Amino acid sequence: MSELDFSVMPDKLTIRGGIRLTGSVEISGAKNAALPLIAASILSEDGLELNNVPDVMDVRTLLKAMERLGAIVDFQSESGRLILNTKNVRPDEIPYDIVRKMRASVLLMGPLLGRFREAHVYTPGGCAIGARPIDEHIQAFQKLGADYRIESGFAILRAPKIKGTQILFDRVTVTGTENAIMAAVLAEGETIIEHAANEPEVADLCHCLIKMGAEIDGIGTSRIMIQGVNSLSRATHRVIPDRIEAGTYMMAIAASGGSGNLCGVNPEHLRIPIEKLVEAGVTVTTGENTISVKAHHDIHPVDVETSPYPGFPTDLQAQFMALMTQADGVSFVKETIFENRFQHVQELNRLGARLKIDGNRVIVRGGTPLQGAEVMATDLRASASLVIAGLTASGTTTVHRIYHLDRGYHKFETKLRNLGADICRISE
Ligand code: EPU
Repeated sequence: MSELDFSVMPDKLTIRGGIRLTGSVEISGAKNAALPLIAASILSEDGLELNNVPDVMDVRTLLKAMERLGAIVDFQSESGRLILNTKNVRPDEIPYDIVRKMRASVLLMGPLLGRFREAHVYTPGGCAIGARPIDEHIQAFQKLGADYRIESGFAILRAPKIKGTQILFDRVTVTGTENAIMAAVLAEGETIIEHAANEPEVADLCHCLIKMGAEIDGIGTSRIMIQGVNSLSRATHRVIPDRIEAGTYMMAIAASGGSGNLCGVNPEHLRIPIEKLVEAGVTVTTGENTISVKAHHDIHPVDVETSPYPGFPTDLQAQFMALMTQADGVSFVKETIFENRFQHVQELNRLGARLKIDGNRVIVRGGTPLQGAEVMATDLRASASLVIAGLTASGTTTVHRIYHLDRGYHKFETKLRNLGADICRISE
């Protein structure tokens, strides 16, 4: 199939642009917090109850994997309530078919190792945004006492016992830190993780594990200390709001020249993106759980550079770039986390943007009126950026391959329609 052969594609979105978004949008629970929390339920034989779980494809894929391991899953998708019964979970194989759909299946390694001292998870490959090795995860498991080998494509981890240790990550890794924490909570003795990721999703996992009986200090810092305990028990936990979903709507509202309110959000988790929007001339007002965004006539060019939390998130880079196509000048968007996260650039250029890749940064010449066209989504956040661009473009934009969007945005087009967007899904 050639790159432009859209004839056998699944669902697509059509957007008639040029409408200013107005109104309110309710932010869902965070996909990247829900995934490690679901995996963490394995650590207790008594299961876990989660609330505010977003009904997105990645969550459903992980729940399938949980069922494969023997968990009983009760997901009330409308209310976001998820009850996981993990009594009969076994350390069975997580096959290629699941891992290829979602790399975050690697999050099962840590808790399986923690509870059963073994894990068999198919090795994930690279993906559209980069090579994404898991060497840091494996080194952490090895430090905790696990043997590691690859057999027929499966990463096999076995540990006679898990012993507390010092783990020093070379790179800041979000799921690597989460895996190390989950493998260490039932270890013998103390584990200290240095250069840990301090994303809010990592903190949320720690808060839930503490409710389950884990002993963790240093939450929200780059030095996490875990005192191993013998067992964990059932708990109830509410997933934090999705800061990336919230950021996406903030960019969409601003790019459309509109004004709107985000509800059920934690503004603290979005300090830098908010600062960047304000620099761009957008009025942003925050309440305890709300953010309101009001665009004015001009958007000013603003440079961003992605970095680990609390820096500007790589997961909002593509959406911010779409906004910058509307700025009245030149801006630079630098990506430092993933080596190949610019696949939206060519697609945005199809809409008339003037973007040029220069190493790990993109030069954005703003002020171009975009025109609707057929474009292709390449990954989750790239898809969101194409929708944002389509909202600002004249005419109709069709975004193909939107299964990427369904992996991580709960009711994306419904929420945008509620804000006044003219957007519809076409199922082939
Ligand atoms: N890395 C290594 N070795 C490792 C682990 C990571 O070299 O063992 C590298 C990666 O290749 C990357 C960098 O370190 O260059 C950071 O990767 P990280 O491990 O932090 O990414 P991740 O844990 O795989 C999570 C999110 C991503 C988000 C990144 C960065 C989940 C399920 N995924 O991925 O979310 O972009 O952190 O914040 O939490 C998304 O939601 O669209 C998404 C891609």
